[in-house]
Amino acid sequence: MIPFETLNTGQKMPVLGLGTWLLTGQKCTQSVSQALELGYTHIDTAKAYENHREIASALENFDRKKIFITSKIWLTDLEPDAVGPACNQILKDLETDYLDLLLIHWPNKSVPVSETLGAMNDLAKQGKTKAIGVSNFTISHLKEALDSKAAKISVNQVEFHPLLYQKGLLEFCKSKGISVTAYCPLGRQGDLRHRAIKEIAERNERTAAQVCLRWLVQKGLVVIPKASSESHLEENMQIFDWELSNEDVEAIDSINRNKRVCNPTFADFNNGSE
Ligand SMILES: NC(=O)c1ccc[n+]([C@@H]2O[C@H](COP(=O)([O-])OP(=O)(O)OC[C@H]3O[C@@H](n4cnc5c(N)ncnc54)[C@H](OP(=O)(O)O)[C@@H]3O)[C@@H](O)[C@H]2O)c1
Repeated sequence: MIPFETLNTGQKMPVLGLGTWLLTGQKCTQSVSQALELGYTHIDTAKAYENHREIASALENFDRKKIFITSKIWLTDLEPDAVGPACNQILKDLETDYLDLLLIHWPNKSVPVSETLGAMNDLAKQGKTKAIGVSNFTISHLKEALDSKAAKISVNQVEFHPLLYQKGLLEFCKSKGISVTAYCPLGRQGDLRHRAIKEIAERNERTAAQVCLRWLVQKGLVVIPKASSESHLEENMQIFDWELSNEDVEAIDSINRNKRVCNPTFADFNNGSE
């Protein structure tokens, strides 16, 4: 059984979801179907991943109400007039009436965040999304968004894994009642090769991936590893019946290198990790 994170809306968000970036075509439908069969109840997607229709095919045989679906609005659709149509297209492609969570995929300096959030708030009032959130927001982006009071922000989805331990950002989000979802929770496999992670995995008789995911879950984050093989999908679920000791958590805390694996040219991280 996958535990839940309670959002500031009262919704229950499963703390393990399936990331679907780079899952496209038939392979996407197949992996999402496998995940749902195994008991995943949370799918992370985005307009930019171009896989909403394939995910819709996988969802056909499952009860929509039992699945938590997150999608994201791309940079070019953040003008208030563009937000509604972008969401409508997402809903159409996913063949659903509502999203559980709709995120601003990346901050965009050229559009006031208050305007985008205002338009997203209208979507929430229309029942098209149950919660609103942001992604790739630093503390300063969040302060601006919160000050605008244009919408209740429930989630910030950011890159977070042992080699990118964004402690200050996590503490800030928690202090504001914002849940944090860790994307690239395995550092796209980079963290799995770290000596300390491998040693802790061996000692706990777990895999390096499980150690990374368990560290994040113990810190109160939601994790969305992408996995396309059944063995990875299964392995990533086996993180809820054991714990890392405080010593192991502290050892992992100390390996941070502020190492981003997702840093596109348009990103605005203020030259710092937070
Ligand atoms: N908001 C954003 O801007 C943003 C940016 C990036 C990502 N994301 C979201 O976060 C999700 C996860 O991030 P990501 O896909 O970039 O990176 P990731 O989840 O850290 O790593 C995915 C890679 O790890 C492999 N893997 C999965 N489970 C494994 C295991 N147990 N052992 C060894 N390898 C394993 C996968 O291989 P196989 O596929 O072969 O199983 C894949 O190559 C994305 O899919 C997307 O939904 C959001």
